[in-house]
Amino acid sequence: SASDKGGWPSFMAKEITEQPDAVANTLRGRIAADETVMIPELDGLDDLFTGINRIVVVAAGTASYAGLVGKYALEKWARIPVEVELSHEFRYRDPVIDAQTLVVSISQSGETMDTLMAVKYARENGAKTLSICNTQGATIPRESDAVVYTHAGPEVAVASTKAFVAQITAIYLLALHVARVRGTVGTAELAGFTAELRAIPEKIVTVLEQTETITQLAHWMSDSRAILFLGRHVGFPIALEGALKLKELAYIHAEGFAAGELKHGPIALIEPGQPVFVVVPSPRGSSTLHSKVVSNIQEIRARGARVIAIAEAGDAAVLPFVDTVIHIPLAAPLFEPLLAVVPMQIFAMELANAKGLDVDQPRNLAKSVTVE
Ligand code: G6P
Repeated sequence: SASDKGGWPSFMAKEITEQPDAVANTLRGRIAADETVMIPELDGLDDLFTGINRIVVVAAGTASYAGLVGKYALEKWARIPVEVELSHEFRYRDPVIDAQTLVVSISQSGETMDTLMAVKYARENGAKTLSICNTQGATIPRESDAVVYTHAGPEVAVASTKAFVAQITAIYLLALHVARVRGTVGTAELAGFTAELRAIPEKIVTVLEQTETITQLAHWMSDSRAILFLGRHVGFPIALEGALKLKELAYIHAEGFAAGELKHGPIALIEPGQPVFVVVPSPRGSSTLHSKVVSNIQEIRARGARVIAIAEAGDAAVLPFVDTVIHIPLAAPLFEPLLAVVPMQIFAMELANAKGLDVDQPRNLAKSVTVE
């Protein structure tokens, strides 16, 4: 009913605006007095992280993109090799896993059959298992050695939004927890990262303030036949998620690509008028990556692409080459996905609204896929 939606036109609109709380609630109680990460659920379970030489993340759909983002943080901070695999691919390929493998599953519902079967397979083959889940007491956490709950609150809209930012928050907390346990990042540096995480909710509020601009853009682009998404580093999984949201909600053909892959194929798709979203990495992170993505933008612009950049506030280098820029507040480079995904969610929802579609219940999709 409309009252459950708290006055919002859809659960999706409500859940997108709840994202600052989803992040804040997922952080709550997990940052110790010395500002390092201490996840109470993982108390006494240090051997999950010390006795391993590899992490394999298994998930499906949006949760798998949270896993891809998490790979960058886990490898950077905890210095453990991380693979991310779709749960339905993982268990049918005779994966090499053993007692020194930690299998981390990510699932909003905790009931996705493909992911549950991957977790069971991992346990049966001797791996350690940890679940990142949004639903207390769900099957996947019950089947796992440990669980880190996301506290996004119930997510009703079929396509995932607030659970996704909570999943990224949780895997970042996990990465910082593991880094502390393994001693790969010093206390002062850890405190700097938790400060970055704490600042994210307010920054998401700032992104949400641009909803009107993004809505207008979605209306202008509502007759698009295909939309492309480019990103690099942690912006790459966000490009994948932006494309998935558009397929799910607006039934528009959309693909996400790693920006570095452009010249190896996708650039052939560019013709005059082709809309392309580009997640631009912060120039304060790697200036090399930033300038490479700016050249990608110039290359597609020269071929007539209509470029919508999602770039850090104050990034003037992209301005001469883009049709539209959506600014996100400054954040340390690894934390940008938590901000950059928000305009993409709003864009997909508003484009679906412009086409008169049901954004909460897209055709053919289910909130939780409990069959293989
Ligand atoms: C379904 C939903 C997606 C979700 C995926 C994984 O396909 O429509 O929004 O990302 O399942 O769900 P889970 O509950 O495992 O995160």
